[in-house]
Amino acid sequence: MTTVKIKPNGPLLVDGQITIIDADGNEETKEKTTAFCRCGASNNKPFCDGTHNKVGWKDS
Ligand code: FES
Repeated sequence: MTTVKIKPNGPLLVDGQITIIDADGNEETKEKTTAFCRCGASNNKPFCDGTHNKVGWKDS
């Protein structure tokens, strides 16, 4: 089962196997927990790289 959890003031956590397809059609499969950026400040989009902490991003 795949679950999606919103981490307060942080990323979207997807737990379970998923396949990510980028704008060029390249596929990447993730098997465990994947953190997607919600703040827009990540330097590794679409993934969270922890920058939300550095910029002090908060849920509105
Ligand atoms: S939510 Fe973590 S870098 Fe954006």
